[in-house]
Amino acid sequence: MGTWPDGAGVGTQEEPANDRRYASSASKDARGGLEMDDNVGTGGHVPVMLERVLELLAPALAGPAPVVVDANLGLGGHSEALLAAHPALHLIGIDRDPFAIEFSTRRLSPYADRTTLVHASSGDLAEVLDQAGRPVIDGALFDLGVSSPQLDEAERGFAYSYDAPLDMRMDTSQELTAERVVNTYSARELARILRDYGEERFAQRVAGLIIKERAKEAITSTKRLADIVRDAIPAATRRTGGNPAKRTFQALRIEVNAELSALEAALPAALDALTLGGRVVVLSYHSLEDRLTKQALTARTKDTGPPGLPVPLPAHQPRFRLLTRGAELPSDEELARNPRAASARLRAAERIRVDD
Ligand SMILES: C[S@@+](CC[C@H](N)C(=O)[O-])C[C@H]1O[C@@H](n2cnc3c(N)ncnc32)[C@H](O)[C@@H]1O
Repeated sequence: MGTWPDGAGVGTQEEPANDRRYASSASKDARGGLEMDDNVGTGGHVPVMLERVLELLAPALAGPAPVVVDANLGLGGHSEALLAAHPALHLIGIDRDPFAIEFSTRRLSPYADRTTLVHASSGDLAEVLDQAGRPVIDGALFDLGVSSPQLDEAERGFAYSYDAPLDMRMDTSQELTAERVVNTYSARELARILRDYGEERFAQRVAGLIIKERAKEAITSTKRLADIVRDAIPAATRRTGGNPAKRTFQALRIEVNAELSALEAALPAALDALTLGGRVVVLSYHSLEDRLTKQALTARTKDTGPPGLPVPLPAHQPRFRLLTRGAELPSDEELARNPRAASARLRAAERIRVDD
């Protein structure tokens, strides 16, 4: 199968060019030193905290006809393992990246009769469930952020380490690109994004230099933007804390893909759709995602009644209980195999009460 990763198990028809891009990226992970034996079939792409995800979701998926939503399908790694572990499971997989849907459609083809894969933003999760005729679910998984192929394919413009057009769209059919943000937003808007989404201490300086530089010539490449960021950061700070462009690129990615507003809509929608005993697992990769997740989960695990009531009122009782103490981290062993898991934070909760 040419460029498909070995053992991908993704069908035998000739792959379109876009799929090839996904396949070659998955192989890069393998060349990066991941153990082939441990993966679930994409030539080295290892889903983050896979065993823990399976363990946490398993009790919720033990019924006769369980339904799970994978709100961040990506390469379909978690989904494939869930489908393999639960023979009666129906999986609804969502991704806003059309290449992820194409790739996972092939990868999950052995389970085609038990999968519904949808090209959509997880922000539309409630509508996706309605349209799939599955408004009630037993499990939900969020594996947030970008996938390895999105980072590794230079031309997608997510990475400061490659020179490429400033794109950063997960959904390649949307209009807003990083180039548009960098060249049209005001200094104030840029500084806010860099501060709020990138936690960039020098947000104003970076925004100021972007405005100055774009007045000379539009900023259209990742390399030029990375150079501008480096020049805006004081030399003493540049020597510590890795590549200074990292925070700016994260901020732009979050803005271009409206990542936080999607999560703000998707997580409550998934929690509302969970049946009694249903479980949600969320893997976050930066503090903003983890904070939103923590807030959404803890809000539902608290008694909301006025303090001092002699008998707790059912309407104020918590609907969920937390399954994790704080955020769980990947093991050292996983980090040795997959350095990209380093920033992962896992939180999970279970529905313990439904509204009357
Ligand atoms: C970390 S990857 C998921 C990897 C996947 N769990 C696996 O095992 O292959 C995250 C995926 O979520 C997708 N994504 C990010 N934000 C999204 C959103 N709001 N709606 C739908 N998909 C989204 C990205 O396009 C990417 O494919």
